[in-house]
Amino acid sequence: MWSGPKENFPVIEACNLSKQFGALPALNGISFQVDSGELFAYLGPNGAGKTTTIRILTGLTRRGNGTVKLNGHDIAADPVRGKAQFGLVPQYTNLDGELTVAENLLIHGRLHHMSRRDIRRRTSLLLEYVEMSDRSHKPVKTLSGGLKRRLLIARALMHDPEILFLDEPTVGLDPAIRRRIWALIKKIQHDGLFAILFRC
Ligand SMILES: Nc1ncnc2c1ncn2[C@@H]1O[C@H](COP(=O)(O)OP(=O)(O)OP(=O)(O)O)[C@@H](O)[C@H]1O
Ligand SMILES: [Mg+2]
Repeated sequence: MWSGPKENFPVIEACNLSKQFGALPALNGISFQVDSGELFAYLGPNGAGKTTTIRILTGLTRRGNGTVKLNGHDIAADPVRGKAQFGLVPQYTNLDGELTVAENLLIHGRLHHMSRRDIRRRTSLLLEYVEMSDRSHKPVKTLSGGLKRRLLIARALMHDPEILFLDEPTVGLDPAIRRRIWALIKKIQHDGLFAILFRC
């Protein structure tokens, strides 16, 4: 049973994580911990297992051996409440291109059982935060890559999570847009969200 953050526990604790896909070892005894307020970068070349690690931490892929705790709780014990604790920016954009910016945020909010009032409030606040207020009614398919990445970050923050996972948040973006995304991530950390970054 999820009973809120446990005091004096790291926000993320991965201990001796291993994962095999068939005969292929994807992770081999990875351990790390992330504390409150920390911006944690997890680096490795293509195929090193960064996405697999995020998927295990967020309950999307079953781990092999080892333990994972978010705020002292094992996500496998209460996945529904556990998943409310984090926001996830995936490596590949999975927005609905036919829907508008605001509609994409609305769907995410409904999936997290947010009230319509909270969805309206957070949509307006977060679009302002990522400097996209003027795009609210634009179809997502008309946005540039950098804007889509900012929208993914806004979407991940919709339900007010305590942990933000970003899987290669600036991949495929040009240097000026990369710097803008990094500035946004630093702002999020400064404003008090625990962030975990994967290779950018
Ligand atoms: N669902 C899967 N089935 C089989 N093998 C997989 C699966 N997912 C990942 N792998 C393998 O596990 C290893 C780690 O992959 P992963 O995607 O986690 O690496 P990554 O560090 O995120 O790479 P990249 O930088 O290319 O995104 C790779 O060898 C990959 O082929
Ligand atoms: Mg990856």
